[in-house]
Amino acid sequence: MGVEIRVEGLKKSFGRQVIWEDVSFTIPAGEISALLGPSGTGKSVFLKNLVGLLRPDRGHVFVGGGDVPRLRENELYDMRRKFGVLFQDGALFGSMNIYDNIAFPLREHTRKSESEIRRIVLEKMEMVGLTGAEAKLPGEISGGMKKRAGLARALVLDPEIILADEPDSGLDPVRTAYLNQLFVDLNTEMGATFLIVTHDIGTARVLPDNLGLLFRRGLVMFGPREMILSSTHPAVNQFFNARRQGPIGMAEEKDQAEVASEGAIPKAMPAPIPPQLMPSDGRLRPSMRRPGEWLREHQTKPPPGSFIDDQGRNWMTDWDSLVHARERPQ
Ligand SMILES: Nc1ncnc2c1ncn2[C@@H]1O[C@H](COP(=O)(O)OP(=O)(O)OP(=O)(O)O)[C@@H](O)[C@H]1O
Ligand SMILES: [Mg+2]
Repeated sequence: MGVEIRVEGLKKSFGRQVIWEDVSFTIPAGEISALLGPSGTGKSVFLKNLVGLLRPDRGHVFVGGGDVPRLRENELYDMRRKFGVLFQDGALFGSMNIYDNIAFPLREHTRKSESEIRRIVLEKMEMVGLTGAEAKLPGEISGGMKKRAGLARALVLDPEIILADEPDSGLDPVRTAYLNQLFVDLNTEMGATFLIVTHDIGTARVLPDNLGLLFRRGLVMFGPREMILSSTHPAVNQFFNARRQGPIGMAEEKDQAEVASEGAIPKAMPAPIPPQLMPSDGRLRPSMRRPGEWLREHQTKPPPGSFIDDQGRNWMTDWDSLVHARERPQ
């Protein structure tokens, strides 16, 4: 089962540049969370702090009894086994073919036989749609294929936590849809904790249980998908609805004059909340909540048109019959 990550009072700077400070939140065990934010707000730096590749100036990252910034090298080595990480650039070894890249963690961290390694590597390669690319070098495959190879490598140790830095950047829309479904199905199967960094609002709106936004050197908000997608907080509303109007500008922050010049623009309503992606085998994920439940608990009205899918079915009002229909094999 997945483990939770509890972040407390985390601050990171490079020289005099403060990236973010006072970041505190809990990434719930076994759930899918997504972290978003304008370019340069420190999302990749954040992931590297979680696995101890970068050290924060202060604060804590509690994972399964340890505090990552305070672990000794050998403890950190063991801790990293809990994590499967897909780095933003794929971070493949350029001189190793795709097969050996994906097999690397198994050879490094386990005593499995080469035939067992082969079975696992080929299974993960098939999972991410890379069958046949075993002998290629990273320099010989497309950007999207590198991403998927990095993902396969992140999965081979069956980690309890999966961190993925923009797994969908450079992927075409159809492969993005497949990838999102893969994340949902993996989470259902493995129960691992997922933290995905993405710029894709389409992904952010349908995939995760929880969403967070980094902006202005801090975590603006983190919480259940329904809370974030119904929020009228200016930056949250602007970002998750991909609008120009709001405090976020071309170069991260707008100045006072720019914001003031938008004063007359009426406050934008949050767009309808789409139904969440379901596992493809008809099961329900343990962390999946009934559509509209969070909103009801917090006496918030869903934005008009919410929870209706592209076949016109309303997952909030017709949840029981829709779920029941899925559970019966066709
Ligand atoms: N090792 C480093 N040394 C110094 N500065 C760094 C280092 N790594 C990152 N930075 C700086 O930290 C800031 C945040 O970088 P980061 O890569 O985390 O942004 P990001 O939110 O992931 O952006 P993007 O969406 O473009 O991937 C940037 O200003 C970057 O230049
Ligand atoms: Mg990044």
